Amino acid sequence: AIQRTFSIIKPDATKRNLTGAITKMLEDGGLRVVASKRIHMTKEQAEGFYAVHKERPFFGELVEFMMSEPVVVQVLEGEDAVARNREIMGATNPEEAAPGTIRKEYALSIGENSVHGSDSLENAEIEIKFFFNDDEIVG
Ligand code: CMP
Repeated sequence: AIQRTFSIIKPDATKRNLTGAITKMLEDGGLRVVASKRIHMTKEQAEGFYAVHKERPFFGELVEFMMSEPVVVQVLEGEDAVARNREIMGATNPEEAAPGTIRKEYALSIGENSVHGSDSLENAEIEIKFFFNDDEIVG
């Protein structure tokens, strides 16, 4: 089925001017960018977005990293978009990411891993609503 998922091009990637290169990999993988904006996350946004991880030892580091440089938040649309996006991204840890994936190509470490993608359709909807109003998404 056609789905929408949520993606973030993270600070390590925007800093290295990889917004276009990463977006091309998403598009070449069959996804369409139906919303996109470059933002500098506030502490409230970073903590709120990653609230499920707040008991993890890396939470503070994760929030600081996500605020360290601009990010590009996107809504991606396509056939099985949630799973497709996860395939294109590769494993969270770049050392485990398959050849040809974004994280294999560009990620620096498990924390500085270039992209975020929703892990389920349910979370995709929540994450899209966290950053976008309905009128900002043009399918
Ligand atoms: P993401 O898909 O954005 O969701 C949570 C993020 O936490 C994950 O990608 C990683 O970037 C980050 N993360 C996961 N494990 C670690 C870790 N051990 N150290 C630092 N960051 C981590």
